[in-house]
Amino acid sequence: MKIEIIGAGSLGLLLAGKLIRSGAGVRLWCRSGEQCAALAEAGLAISHIDGREPVFIPGSEIEAVPISEFPRLYPESPGDWLVLTVKQGVLHGTLPELLGPLRESEVNVLCLQNGWGHMELLQKLLPAASLYAAVTTEGARRESPVRVVHAGAGQTSIGLWGKGETVRNQAAIRMADTLRSAGFSVLLSNEVKAMIFRKLAINAVINPLTAIWRIPNGELLSTELRVRMMRELYEETAAVYEACGIAYEDSLWNDILEVCRATSGNHSSMLADVLSSRETEIRWINGSLVALAEQAGVDVTAHQWVIRMVEGMFVKER
Ligand code: PAF
Repeated sequence: MKIEIIGAGSLGLLLAGKLIRSGAGVRLWCRSGEQCAALAEAGLAISHIDGREPVFIPGSEIEAVPISEFPRLYPESPGDWLVLTVKQGVLHGTLPELLGPLRESEVNVLCLQNGWGHMELLQKLLPAASLYAAVTTEGARRESPVRVVHAGAGQTSIGLWGKGETVRNQAAIRMADTLRSAGFSVLLSNEVKAMIFRKLAINAVINPLTAIWRIPNGELLSTELRVRMMRELYEETAAVYEACGIAYEDSLWNDILEVCRATSGNHSSMLADVLSSRETEIRWINGSLVALAEQAGVDVTAHQWVIRMVEGMFVKER
């Protein structure tokens, strides 16, 4: 099986390295030619914070290609799966044009984005493809273009999007097995929307607050005021879900607290973006809740505030 991983950030590098080590065929599409050259020269190093042996992939075993070459190179030797590990901003910004040649293709696509909005976009761009949404709690931190830290082993759930069919088809089972052979814990789920909305709520509470206060996830629980602010965001989220008929578990609030404990030393992806002066996914996380709230007439003042706070950190050139 040949897997095309689009996006060489923390998760893309982690998946690529572990899949290559397990013997899977991988082509990694990077944003820059410099990263491809660095990977070819230095190889890819994965370290683990839980003391497991580091993984090193020599440059000679890595096929890394600049994403700008995708429209030319991909049709010459298409893979069996596209795995999208780019952020929502890239997915909505530059990817639509690059994926143009795949409009009629029946390719399998696995999407690992946070937030809401990407699956609808991909459905429009790739109407013939089989789209799978994945929600993962794997913790990964990119230390350089050629080094990634596996900051916490998690769970990845995969669901088939939009076809009303069970995810237990041959392609998905094979993909799940391939990921398991690479050391990931994978579940196939028919509750794809529920799993995306659960993760959306977790991200909408944890990510903006950790980014604004610049603290690791666990420190959200360290003062009453912080927990109160989390609770406000959670209650607005629950009100939106109720108004929109989106089902969620009674345990959702406790699940959010548990994610803070389980990932206590980690920087959320939004904090990592802020610290690296990268655009954040706030628009696709809290912004998508505000859009749902507007349709349903629900007040989401706390979400609107955190969006302004996070967006206000960046001065965009006019
Ligand atoms: O976006 C993230 O960082 C993660 O999804 C989570 C679960 C908040 C843990 O850091």
